[in-house]
Parts: sequence; structure tokens; C-alpha cells
Amino acid sequence: MKKYNSIAIVGTQWGDEGKGKITNYFANRADYVVRFQGGNNAGHSIIYNNQRFGLHLLPSGIFDKNVKNVLANGVVIDLEGLLNEIESLSKAGVNDISLFISDRAHIVFPYHKEIDTLQEENRKADIGTTRQGIGPAYTDKVSRIGIRIIDLYDDDYLKEKLKENIEEKNKLFESMGIKKKIDFDKTYKFALEAREKIKHYVVDSSVLVYKALEKRKKVLFEGAQGILLCLDHGTYPFVTSSSPTSSSIPLNVGIPSYSVSQTIGVTKAYVTRVGKGALPTEFENEISEKIREVGKEYGTTTGRARRIGWFDATLIKHAKRVSGLTGLSVTLLDVLTGISELKIGINYTMGEHILESIPASEKNYNEVNVSYIVLPGWTENISKVKSFYDLPKNARKYLEAIENYTGVPVVQFSVGPKKEQTINIENIW
Ligand code: IMP
Repeated sequence: MKKYNSIAIVGTQWGDEGKGKITNYFANRADYVVRFQGGNNAGHSIIYNNQRFGLHLLPSGIFDKNVKNVLANGVVIDLEGLLNEIESLSKAGVNDISLFISDRAHIVFPYHKEIDTLQEENRKADIGTTRQGIGPAYTDKVSRIGIRIIDLYDDDYLKEKLKENIEEKNKLFESMGIKKKIDFDKTYKFALEAREKIKHYVVDSSVLVYKALEKRKKVLFEGAQGILLCLDHGTYPFVTSSSPTSSSIPLNVGIPSYSVSQTIGVTKAYVTRVGKGALPTEFENEISEKIREVGKEYGTTTGRARRIGWFDATLIKHAKRVSGLTGLSVTLLDVLTGISELKIGINYTMGEHILESIPASEKNYNEVNVSYIVLPGWTENISKVKSFYDLPKNARKYLEAIENYTGVPVVQFSVGPKKEQTINIENIW
């Protein structure tokens, strides 16, 4: 079997695990950083030249012109959002970006966002989407009416497809009793302007990444969201519309099934979730309040307060099975400092039975009981530790328990937002 020099960084919970920080940590040793799914529903901030940038779509290596940044075929691209991000970099003097956009990636048009919002408002139980048009754009892709980056460069086809799409959406609005009409001319004009601005980035990214892998270049696959938001293996229907698993990378990039050499699953030292859906270890008291405040647990894209739960080993075992995880990177360990007793959910039971996996149906979560172990916490400030052995004994025991109950080696942990606060236990990549 080929052994490429690649790594995937994926979220193992419901997103917001601190992947941005961990991806940045590895990005500047990569030759390529490849986003493979999702769109600008993702979000993380990067500090560059003392300035904070909110990245939603651009890959994390974008500030380094020696790193080739790829938006692969599995990503959905909001042209307006993309151009805004490129412009905000340019305003800060970052002009010489190395960006490659797949000719096969699908486009998120403004009408997708409007549909996303309307669907959310009209659903009996809203999903709590980011309203960035992600679901509607992937729906069009699956319905085979989507418009891809390559289509921007074929005038007749673009006109015909855009007309067809807009007519269909306008009918949908009408059927929902909404007076709104999408303006074809405005959308078409915008598409023509955008295509000029991005044309020098467009490539067949499957060929690009494949060649890089074959040459043993260091390729980092940057996941967005988390495995429990996976359309297939997440907590359906409260999921996103793509697959954040590393198993989805070959398809979403157009490369062989053996392309991912190792997968680091990023996990918080506890669990959070935004929006609706199951969160079996959720709790609400002064400790969750403290975690929310210390951990700044408010959404980057939406600003919503995140729900808080104890670390849940069952979720990671699920992530390990459906995605493959070669190591865990445990983030925000410092947030737990000062909590006298820490719980870890180790098993789900339903009646008499220990479940082998998470339930398939949301409804069954009501019957799930979580078994916990309780570990003593620590009070020492851990934000300056330089190695695993600098940690207080109870913090080490906490990480060891995570490793034991998930069956995945903890290879890295993080104790603060700075790069030097990411500490390797094992040498990775
Ligand atoms: P969508 O991806 O906007 O369709 O939203 C579907 C679900 O995924 C919602 O519960 C969102 O809150 C969640 N979601 C999407 N992207 C992210 C993310 O980057 N972090 C955390 N949750 C996300």
C-alpha cells in the first residue's frame, strides 16, 4: 500500500473543538492544506501580524504563500463570502495568496441562503443551521441541478442553468406563500463579476493533490464541523449536509482511498454543542456556566451560546469507528482548572443493555442513560506547562482516562490559545 505523507485534522464532536488552532499548528509545516467539505458554515479566527481574521472558507494555510491552499470538489463555495475573505486579507497586506479552487466544487448562491433561512423558519423543529445556504446548495448538488465552478466559464450553460434554478426557487417561494422573487439579472451579473476575480485560482484539484501525494509532499486535510454533525454518521437530522469524517476525504478530494496516512481527532476536554439535538452528557449548573465563560463558548459564526456536557467517551469511540482516528488532540484542558470533580461519560445504557454505539434515532436518546466515572480535578494553573509531565497528577490522570475509555491515544493537548500552549505527547507529523 502507498504511504503518503498526509494528515487529516477532524473534529470528533459537534464542531468547535478547536480545530482551527490545531490545524494552524500543523499548517505551517504542510506543503498543501486542503479543505474537503462544508463551506462558510465553518469559522475560526487566526491571529496574523497582531490582527484577528475570521476565516470561514479559506483553508488555514492561506497566510503563508509557501503553502498551497485547496478548496476541493467536496466544498460548497459561497462566491461572495470567498471574495470578501480574500479582500479582507488583501486590505491587511496579504495579497500573494496561494489558492486553488476545484473546477468541480458547487456554488452557494445568495438564493441558497434565503432558502436556508426560510426552511429554518418554517420547519416544525428547526435544525439551527448557520443559514449560510449549505443544505440547499448540497441539495441542488444531489438533485443534479447545482451549478459548479466550471459552469461559470460556459456562458450559455450558465445562463440556462441559472434561469432554471431561479425559476424553480421562485416557484418554491410562491408555493410557500412568500412574495419574494429572485432576480435573474442581478444573480447572473454577480456570477460574471465573480468568475473574473477567481479565474486564476480554478484548477482540477484532484490532479493537483494526487500529484502532491505521489511526490510525498506534506498534505494536510482540514476538516470542518465535527463527526457527530456528519450527514450519515451524525445525530441526524441535527447534522450538517456533508461528511466531516476523514473517511470522506478520498471522495471529496478525488484521490485514492489510501490517501490519509493519519487522522488526528480534535476533541475538547468536555463537550459542547450549538443548536438542537442530543447531547447525552449535557448539564446546566454553575459549573457549566463557568466552563461557558472561561472557555468562551459562544459560536464564531452565529454568536450563539453553546450547550455544555461532560467529556463523553462513547462519542469518541463512535468517531474512531466511522472515521478512523490515529490520535486525539485534547483542547481546552485549562478550562477545567479549578473544578473539584470532573466527570467522564464512559458508556451509554438503555434499560439493561450497554450500547455498542450511539443510537441511530434522535428519539432514542431520551432513553439513554450515561454511566460516569468521577475524577478529582486540579487547581494549579496549567497554562504554562511545556510537557505532559509538567501537568499536575490529576490532569495527567484525566488525560489517561480519556485515552483508556476511548481507546485512542492522546497524542497532544492544549492549554490556551497560543501556539506554544499546544503540547505534543508524541511526535506527530
Ligand atoms: P448547517 O451546516 O449550516 O446546515 O447547520 C447544520 C448544523 O450544523 C447546525 O446545528 C449548525 O449549528 C451545525 N454547524 C454547522 N457548522 C458548524 C461549525 O462549524 N461548528 C459547529 N456547528 C456547526
